[in-house]
Amino acid sequence: MLPVALTEIRRQLNPMRNLKSCINIDDLARLAAKKVPTPVYDYVEGGADDEVTLSRNCSGFQRYQIVPKALQDVSRIDTQTRIMGCHTSQPFYISATGFSGMMCPKDAELAGARAASKFGVPYTASTFSNRSLEQISESSDGNKFFQVYVLDDEQLASDLNRRAKAAGFKAMVLTIDTIVGGNRERDARSGLSIPPTLTVKSTFQYMRRPKWLLQYMLSDGANMGNFPQLPKVSLGDSHAFVEAMSKLFKKNLTWNDARNMVEQWGGPFAIKGIMSAADAVKAKEIGASAVILSNHGGRQLDGTPAPIELVEEVRAAVGPEMEIIVDGGIRRGTDVFKALALGANACSLGRAYVRGLSAGGEEGVTKALSLLKTEFERCMILAGCSSIDQIGPEHIRKIA
Ligand SMILES: Cc1cc2nc3c(=O)[nH]c(=O)nc-3n(C[C@H](O)[C@H](O)[C@H](O)COP(=O)(O)O)c2cc1C
Repeated sequence: MLPVALTEIRRQLNPMRNLKSCINIDDLARLAAKKVPTPVYDYVEGGADDEVTLSRNCSGFQRYQIVPKALQDVSRIDTQTRIMGCHTSQPFYISATGFSGMMCPKDAELAGARAASKFGVPYTASTFSNRSLEQISESSDGNKFFQVYVLDDEQLASDLNRRAKAAGFKAMVLTIDTIVGGNRERDARSGLSIPPTLTVKSTFQYMRRPKWLLQYMLSDGANMGNFPQLPKVSLGDSHAFVEAMSKLFKKNLTWNDARNMVEQWGGPFAIKGIMSAADAVKAKEIGASAVILSNHGGRQLDGTPAPIELVEEVRAAVGPEMEIIVDGGIRRGTDVFKALALGANACSLGRAYVRGLSAGGEEGVTKALSLLKTEFERCMILAGCSSIDQIGPEHIRKIA
């Protein structure tokens, strides 16, 4: 009797049983919680320090209201646009997330790249992918961007650059907000190690997800796909890992270095981690074609504004031509609509995508993208917009 009652309570608390039962992005998180070990789930969902920025990234959207335009012909709507020179079926795409082998041991990054390609949106491969740039590139025909962390070792850095170009990546994304790892206390408490290793503390957690554990043990999930020349990193906790990896980063990266990178790449180039109008203007001056307004999903510096709160002032500062991408807190199609109405060109998805990946691999990512597509399209219709260029400041109102 008691076990039945407990099962029922658990079901009530977490009714998500499969992808079909997920009707929004938060549901995918609930399902993900059942599929991956708790330390991995917390690694994805957690943020820095008190997670104030993490929650503000989402709540910031509530400061804006959508103003519908009445009696417009919305019998046909067109959501296509371009992001960093690439065609996209929706004004959103997949942001860089490292170590996908933890969330989806079987396919790691390949699951996201394939789903994005079939869906017609770009995919961003992280420097810290578990699969190599070449494997990710070959996994699908879709448009892909390469996210780079600048490495101290110039040879390694220029090799990565060359490989990304040779593998057909269409744009480079330079992340500038990770000079040291953020203080993620959930990881310290859960004892997560990257890559996950079986310690006395973690074994119980991992054994509660036997399917995940088996796939993880059978896969290359722990490999650093882009650095086969480096010894396999296996440290006792995620903080130690991030510190070890951050020793690889160039700590004295300046605007001059960024300018050189823009020139060397010679194609669409975004700077990710811009959090002020002044820095957005500098990015424009050094020749970047896009700024990604981002605080790394609240995982680095706690206490910053939400990216959505910066859009208007950044647009006013950089003018109409530069691409602005909002990255952080996107969980609903209406979030995407608000970002566009405030002056952004597109949004990028971090956890919205990783939740799908953890919940169901490629199928889960497709589900996440489909949910956002349906919500965004419904929002466009109800707001009276039949194409992306019709979404403008008249559709948005800020609450004081
Ligand atoms: C699990 C995880 C791993 C991430 N890894 C990277 C990374 O390797 N490179 C990077 O530039 N950003 C990384 N990010 C940050 C995302 O690209 C993105 O900026 C952030 O998740 C956006 O916030 P959101 O999750 O609220 O959408 C990571 C985020 C998560 C959740």
